[in-house]
Amino acid sequence: MTYAGNPENLRDIENNPRYKFIKGDICDEKLVNEIISSEKPDGVINFAAETHVDRSILDSYSFVKTDVLGTQTLLDVSKKYNVSRYLHISTDEIYGSIEKGSFSEESLLNPSNPYSASKASADLIVKSYFITYKTPVLITRSSNNFGPFQYPEKIIPLFITNLLENKKIPLYGDGLNIRDWLYVLDNCQAIDLVFHKGKEGQIYNVGSGNELTNLDLTKLILETMGKDEKSIEYVKDRPGHDRRYSLDYTKIKKELGWQPKYDFKKALIETINWYKENKDWWQKIKSGEYLEYYKKQYLER
Ligand code: DAU
Repeated sequence: MTYAGNPENLRDIENNPRYKFIKGDICDEKLVNEIISSEKPDGVINFAAETHVDRSILDSYSFVKTDVLGTQTLLDVSKKYNVSRYLHISTDEIYGSIEKGSFSEESLLNPSNPYSASKASADLIVKSYFITYKTPVLITRSSNNFGPFQYPEKIIPLFITNLLENKKIPLYGDGLNIRDWLYVLDNCQAIDLVFHKGKEGQIYNVGSGNELTNLDLTKLILETMGKDEKSIEYVKDRPGHDRRYSLDYTKIKKELGWQPKYDFKKALIETINWYKENKDWWQKIKSGEYLEYYKKQYLER
C-alpha cells in the first residue's frame, strides 16, 4: 500500500471468499513468515514494486528497499516453507536500450536508471535462488503495460487525463523514444500461463510487437480524443532516458503457446473510454484527495 496502491481497484472482488487483504510490507520478514506459514499458499507471485522511473531518479531508496530487499525477503520465506511455485514479475527495462533488433532472454542486463537497476538486481537474485537452492522460481519480463486502473503518472493515463482536464501534455525530449505497448489483460494471461505451465528456473519475455515512438503514441491519443498537437508541451528530457525497448518473445509463443490477443488501437480506445467514464477514480488521485483518504485508511489506523 504505497501511494499507488488503491483498494478501489479491487472493489469487484472485495467479497470473494478467495480474496484476503493483509496490509503489510514485503520487507517485514516476521509478517511474511506469519502469512506464508499460516496461509500455506500454492504459490507466490510478486507484483510488489516501486515502478516509476522518474520517481527513482528523484529518490532511489524505496526502489532498492522494496524491489531488491522485498524480493529477497519473499524468496527466503518461500524457500523456508517450500512454496511450490514462485513467480517474479520483472520488466523489459532491465535489458536497457537497443537501437536495432530485440533482446532475448539470454541478452545481458544493462539497466540505465535506479528503477531498472533495482529490478535487474531483483531478477538476478531470483535466478540465483534457482541455481543455488533449486527454489522453483519463474520470471516474466514484460514490456510497457497500459489499460484501465493505471496510476496517472505513466504516459498513457497521464496524457489522457490531462487532455480530459484541458491541460497540456508533457512530452520528454524529442518524443522519439520507442516503447512496445502491451495491453494489461494480455500480460495477465501471460503471467497466469507462466505460473501454471512455465518451466522452473525459466525466464519468459512478454512483448506485443506494438512499437511506437512516444510522438506517434501521443498523436494517436490526441486524434482519438479530438485534440490537436497544440496540446503538446515539449519538456526537458528524462536523465538517462532509454531510447528504445524491444523484446524478442519467441520463447513464450513457442514453448507455452501464448500470444497477445488484443488489438492495440482498439485497446487504446477502450482505455481512453475507461478514463472518460471513471473520472471519479482518477480525479481523486490527481487532486491529492486520494492521498488524504489513503493516509486516513491505512497509515493512521
Ligand atoms: O518497459 C516496462 C516499464 O514501463 C516498466 O517496467 C515500468 O515500471 C513502467 O513505469 C514503464 O516505464 P517507462 O519509463 O517506459 O514508462 P513511462 O510511462 O514513465 O514513460 C513511457 C515513455 O514516455 C518514456 O519514453 C518516457 C515518456 N514520457 C513519460 C511521461 C510520464 C513522456 O514523454 N512524458 C511523460 O510525462
